[in-house]
Amino acid sequence: MKLADNKATLSFSNGSPSIELPVYQGTIGPDVLDIRKLYAQTDKFTYDPGFLSTASCQSAITYIDGDKGELLYRGYPIEQLATNCNYLDTCYLLLNGELPDPQQKADFEKLVTNHTMVNEQMQFFLRGFRRDAHPMAVLTGLVGGLSAFYHDSTDINNPEHREISAIRLIAKMPTLVAMAYKYGVGQPYQYPQNHLSYAGNFLRMMFGNPCEEYKVNPVIERAMDRIFILHADHEQNASTSTVRLCGSSGTNPFAAIAAGVACLWGPAHGGANEAALNMLYDIQKQGGVEKIGDFIKQVKDKNSGVKLMGFGHRVYKNYDPRAKLMQETCNEVLSAMGLEKDPLFALAKKLESIALEDEYFVSRKLYPNVDFYSGIVQRAIGIPVNLFTGIFALARTVGWIAQLNEMISDPEYKIGRPRQLYTGSPRRDIKR
Ligand code: SDX
Repeated sequence: MKLADNKATLSFSNGSPSIELPVYQGTIGPDVLDIRKLYAQTDKFTYDPGFLSTASCQSAITYIDGDKGELLYRGYPIEQLATNCNYLDTCYLLLNGELPDPQQKADFEKLVTNHTMVNEQMQFFLRGFRRDAHPMAVLTGLVGGLSAFYHDSTDINNPEHREISAIRLIAKMPTLVAMAYKYGVGQPYQYPQNHLSYAGNFLRMMFGNPCEEYKVNPVIERAMDRIFILHADHEQNASTSTVRLCGSSGTNPFAAIAAGVACLWGPAHGGANEAALNMLYDIQKQGGVEKIGDFIKQVKDKNSGVKLMGFGHRVYKNYDPRAKLMQETCNEVLSAMGLEKDPLFALAKKLESIALEDEYFVSRKLYPNVDFYSGIVQRAIGIPVNLFTGIFALARTVGWIAQLNEMISDPEYKIGRPRQLYTGSPRRDIKR
């Protein structure tokens, strides 16, 4: 970042001395006011619950232009990556800053492929859960538990440890998500097969069984890979900020990623894809397209607590570019599966068109986000609703790692420790 040819002056009406705040600018996007010395100079904090106006860090990984509906991974538009690259290319790009050349691509794919198995002991972790445990509860436990098997790579300040744990996490997440699914349906785990692609291997671990050979459907394989690309990173969202804050204590990478998994689970964040599909099921049950009007009325009634899940975004005040690509993938998968007339997809498209013309949504700049269509395409692939967020976590692991590594390799980084505006009781003594 560099100093802008601009300064901010903060003055106080009570006569306290005013101070100057440096303004920094990045490559693109809003400038920032540097308030690092504010408390020391004014004995005051800033106040920004939810961090609507706060940049927590500087980063060169992902850029979002909410007004334009633009998403860049290391400068490349998501539309180009989703069309011209695969997920492992995208992982390499997010981790290293450049797309891999053919040799780098081959080496990276080989490295990831050769780390897809997990320690056999991991199976006993799963046995501790009930079969009907939510897969995100299982995944949070499994990812945190991984650190117990890799004491050789838990020093986050060691670049070699960071590199091998990045490979292990990217390689093992599909295996762990598939194990959580198999455990829930009472089927035997499928071991990774090294001749398959990253997405193909995941599909086989999910839907393969020992009784017959599993054939990867290339359309589904490509769709799965694209779903991974679309979810790979998204600047300082809640789960990424969680991973950064958790990692800033110096804890090991597996624990920091487990914290990200736990945060992503929430319905306001990664859990929205599960919530969006359940919302469509509910409208379907109540009568389908004819009931959309009643549902929209409920959403507008603040007391109902009902939200249009998969709509709205803290940053996008235009169409989420990932939602457009996800809708395209939906079309491809549904026609490959002979489900062009899928009633839920038709319902989602109708709901979207009604909402996009409704003043309530237009005035609040509420558009479909990545979660609105992802549930429909995952359901068509055969992924159960309660596993959607697990797929999101699988794909976002590389983004979490890239952001964590960027923070740790910044010589200026410190443990994150926000302050507060205290509104509780002043000092008082216990009277017995
Ligand atoms: C993800 O941050 C990221 O980048 C996240 C993510 C990523 O890749 O990491 O993009 C992934 O989490 C996508 C978002 C998924 N969540 C949902 O789809 C859940 C539904 N969406 C909302 O909960 C909401 O839109 C948020 C949480 C996503 C954003 O909320 P904000 O920015 O805090 O905005 P807000 O809640 O203050 O809403 C502003 C207004 C409010 O109305 P008023 O008080 O002004 O009258 O819009 C309304 C809200 O009530 N509103 C909605 C709505 N979202 C916002 N009303 C109905 N339905 C919605 N979905």
